[in-house]
Amino acid sequence: MAKIDTVVVIGLGVMGKNLALNILDKNFRVIGYDVDQTKRIEIYHNQYISIDKLEGLKSYNQTPVAVFLMLPADKISDDYISTVFPLLHPESVVIDGGNSHFKDSIRRVQTFAERNYQYLGVGISGGAEGALKGPSMMIGGHKTSYEKLAHIFNEIGASFEEKSCARYVGASGAGHFVKMIHNGIEYAIMQSIAEIYTVLKASGSITPLEIAEVFQSWQDSHLDSYLLRISAEIIAHKEQNERGFTLDLIKDQAKHKGTGKWVSQFAFDLGVPINGINAALESRFLSSDKALRSKIDGIYNSEKQILQSNNESRQSLIQWSKELLELNYILSFAQGISLIQKGSIDFNLNVQLPEVLAAWMNGCIIECKFISALLEIYKKQPALEHLLLEDSIAKNVKQLQYNSRKLVALAISNHIPLNVSANNISYFDYLKTLHSSANLIQAQRDFFGQHGFERIDKDGIFHF
Ligand code: 6PG
Repeated sequence: MAKIDTVVVIGLGVMGKNLALNILDKNFRVIGYDVDQTKRIEIYHNQYISIDKLEGLKSYNQTPVAVFLMLPADKISDDYISTVFPLLHPESVVIDGGNSHFKDSIRRVQTFAERNYQYLGVGISGGAEGALKGPSMMIGGHKTSYEKLAHIFNEIGASFEEKSCARYVGASGAGHFVKMIHNGIEYAIMQSIAEIYTVLKASGSITPLEIAEVFQSWQDSHLDSYLLRISAEIIAHKEQNERGFTLDLIKDQAKHKGTGKWVSQFAFDLGVPINGINAALESRFLSSDKALRSKIDGIYNSEKQILQSNNESRQSLIQWSKELLELNYILSFAQGISLIQKGSIDFNLNVQLPEVLAAWMNGCIIECKFISALLEIYKKQPALEHLLLEDSIAKNVKQLQYNSRKLVALAISNHIPLNVSANNISYFDYLKTLHSSANLIQAQRDFFGQHGFERIDKDGIFHF
């Protein structure tokens, strides 16, 4: 069969338009559709065709096409997809490139397969620039459908050392599943960077420009990452003719579109601890009610202290911050990966972890140098039970923990909330606790509710 060389992009908002331009740049023919006429005609290219009605696709049904649905998740419904398929050549493949819930993705691949239609759920990361220059793509669905389009994905996706970051990561729903957890890790790393920024700023001895320089200087380590790079740029940014920093003019109330919340909801359902990732989401919630924060600040925050500011403590503070951020990177990925492993089993997603990590090497928001180390680890030990069990990680964490603890303790004694950092350290501490306090919890449960407890000295269920 001839290779598919025509791509339909439905939804020409920022992501859809940029993806269409990216596809055109790779010499495929693009048919673009959007309800908004201005968006439809904004693209100029000799390989570009604009259609003003979805039914217009019928004119191109002599050969199979790849259809990217680049619509907000709430606009992609089973009914909508059902109207698209009959307009196409039967060998065509429809790709959901929005942030859809992976359970919708699983259902759709199966439902449409029963009607002999081919559907792939693809998590796309990298924002508007990624869509234009090459995003990271996490592809899930039937492998035969993927294989028909592999040449397109490989061309339009980001690459790392000439290897594509558009990867087939697993069965139906796996693409959106992995993208969902990518976003949980994204929230945790964003918040970790924000926490380090807060501590350094609160020291009173390090200016925002110096913080930006410090962040830039960390790019020579495992911390080299997209999020740290943009944070350095953001912190140093000043608007034209303004003396102050732009960041100081931005409201300190974080919003979210929901995918990070899905991660926590999902982890609760599965009983997988992801303390740091949950704390990142809750930090956004905590930030949102500024009026309440002002009232509480008025009552409690009068004794706020400033961290030490002599040169020695300044250098230590920077070093401890670097180590804490590195620890946060490790524990954020460790939590995300354990959720991927458990979810993959429970939902039969057959997620290939090395493929996921290869997709995250470039083009996505959580892209960072540390992922190369993770990729090597999971290539050698694909069934590794937990990242903290791996030798090189254990060696690193053992070193990083001391100064990280000092910094979190210092922040707590200075009234500075480090939600992700503190939760990550508790996560680590709990996992390495041989005798936990859960015996008391079990005893209490039995005491008031007759729920029973197990003993270490004999088998069976016992009661007080
Ligand atoms: C990406 C991002 C992106 C994200 C939105 C909204 O990988 O490109 O993860 O898909 O979903 O930026 O994020 P919020 O939940 O923070 O609104």
